[in-house]
Amino acid sequence: MKNNRLDLILGIESSCDETGLALYHETEGLIAHALHSQVALHATYGGVVPELASRDHIHRLIPLTQQVMQHAGVGLDELTGVAYTAGPGLVGALLTGAGFARSLAFARGIPAIGVHHMEGHLLSPLLEAPELCFPFMALLVSGGHTQIIRVNAIGNYQLLGDTLDDAIGEAFDKTAKLMGLGYPGGPIVSKLALQGNAQRYKLPRPMTDRAGLDFSFSGLKTAVLTTWQQAQTERAQDLEQAKADICASFELAVCDVLIIKLKRALQQEKLNTLVVAGGVSANQRIRSSLTQLMTSRAGHAFFPRPEFCTDNGAMIAFAGYQRIKAGEHSSLDFSARARWPLSEMNRIP
Ligand code: KG4
Ligand code: ZN
Repeated sequence: MKNNRLDLILGIESSCDETGLALYHETEGLIAHALHSQVALHATYGGVVPELASRDHIHRLIPLTQQVMQHAGVGLDELTGVAYTAGPGLVGALLTGAGFARSLAFARGIPAIGVHHMEGHLLSPLLEAPELCFPFMALLVSGGHTQIIRVNAIGNYQLLGDTLDDAIGEAFDKTAKLMGLGYPGGPIVSKLALQGNAQRYKLPRPMTDRAGLDFSFSGLKTAVLTTWQQAQTERAQDLEQAKADICASFELAVCDVLIIKLKRALQQEKLNTLVVAGGVSANQRIRSSLTQLMTSRAGHAFFPRPEFCTDNGAMIAFAGYQRIKAGEHSSLDFSARARWPLSEMNRIP
């Protein structure tokens, strides 16, 4: 199947509410990417409706593929592989991308590879920071994950800490929802927090008084709820300020927890390079707090550029390229996985 051409990989992301397409070239890097967000489609429901998500991906996959091919000025005959998100995520949504990717690869006689969505996030800073070397510490923070991982090489992941309940993105989303701010909560909470006083409300920093690297965010969410209920007694204009102050205090609590856990992890593993990825890594306060943490330790923090923090096709094209280059491809009888621990990934030799 493989010839001597330079690799050109089409990446397809469809695990949740974003359809992302991208082209990654072996020597030129990322040459095109396009994204359609379904936020407006799901907004009235206050969260993602899986069936609507799948249907919308089906409408978007072909036009977005055409868009990236045209933008890059390449034809389907120039593709050497197709990478698609195979999990974790919403099964129906995953299957739309997987079916499209596999059919295209089969028709062209090129390999297709099912990519782990979180591996895509994890490796995304490498897209633009080739100086980043293994091993490093990674903090994966998204709508479904809050994990501290020691990354020894591609596919060689050691899970050091995980959330026992809500993921950090979920905590942002629930905080926004309980104050009636809309969905997805992360960008809304962080925007409002800019006008807030982070010192006003003393929210808990869960699990920081215990040894270990695991997280818990459900208690913080409950504390936000109680604080919000108490604030309801205030006058209307004061209530708006209270919302902003709660958002800022919540963000500060989250940052403090992350810093405490990461300091421990970096110390334990004797590492001084940190990669932060996943949707929540777009958060400005988290970015500056963790950059400051690493600077104070004479280390480095790497983040994807903001548009590649949330779900996108570029990270899937890049992760797929790494695996196709190593000779991997998925068999024709593909499947999608709602759950898929990163520790089950194959190591790239
Ligand atoms: O990685 P992602 O796009 O999808 C998953 O794989 O889950 O992450 C989505 C999550 C949502 O919970 C969203 O509220 C959060 O990332 N998020 C943010 C920000 N932008 C997105 N959280 C905090 N601050 C942000 N600026
Ligand atoms: Zn994601």
